[in-house]
Amino acid sequence: MDIAVLASGSGTNLQALIDSADLRPHINVVISDNASARALDRARKCDIDVRVVRWEDHPDRESFSAAVADVIESAGAKGVVLAGFMRILSPAFIERFPDRILNIHPSLLPAFPGARAVEAALDRRVKVTGVTVHFVDEQVDHGPIIEQAAVLVEPTDTIATLHERIQRVEHELYPSVVRDFVSGNLVVENGRVIRQ
Ligand code: GRF
Repeated sequence: MDIAVLASGSGTNLQALIDSADLRPHINVVISDNASARALDRARKCDIDVRVVRWEDHPDRESFSAAVADVIESAGAKGVVLAGFMRILSPAFIERFPDRILNIHPSLLPAFPGARAVEAALDRRVKVTGVTVHFVDEQVDHGPIIEQAAVLVEPTDTIATLHERIQRVEHELYPSVVRDFVSGNLVVENGRVIRQ
């Protein structure tokens, strides 16, 4: 299965996918809502098609999401991989790609959903946080969990140091899950994911 990767920012997770030689040929397009996202440069550098769908060019979430979905389909991608995409997609978008949208989140969900997960974990003084890769449903940072990995929080951690250690784990975990995704080896049954 070919995929579209959606990214709004630096794109280090995209880079980890690109650097996986077996995954690179499956990335048909990289889409961003942010024309200056570093993720787009990473894609251009290895001749992957890039498209920008600007939030500001659309009257509402539905039409923005429909425009993104149209780009994905016209690129021939069947799967969607969110890698730091900072826009919430509409329920109609989720329905268009049933069990075919992955997300990576920097906490052990259901703890600390939302955009400030690393900061929230530090504020709550947890000893262990981590990474979750999950299928996306209509709720934010929610949906069938595929894999999780733990990261210990050090007493001296700042948001930057903890996020850096979390990202090192992300860059191992995401390619391994996306590999199973593109191979059709992830099956959702009754809200539970089976990695075949
Ligand atoms: C990652 O930490 C990911 O968990 C979260 O957004 C961040 C994206 O980082 N969803 P990058 O753009 O891949 O470097």
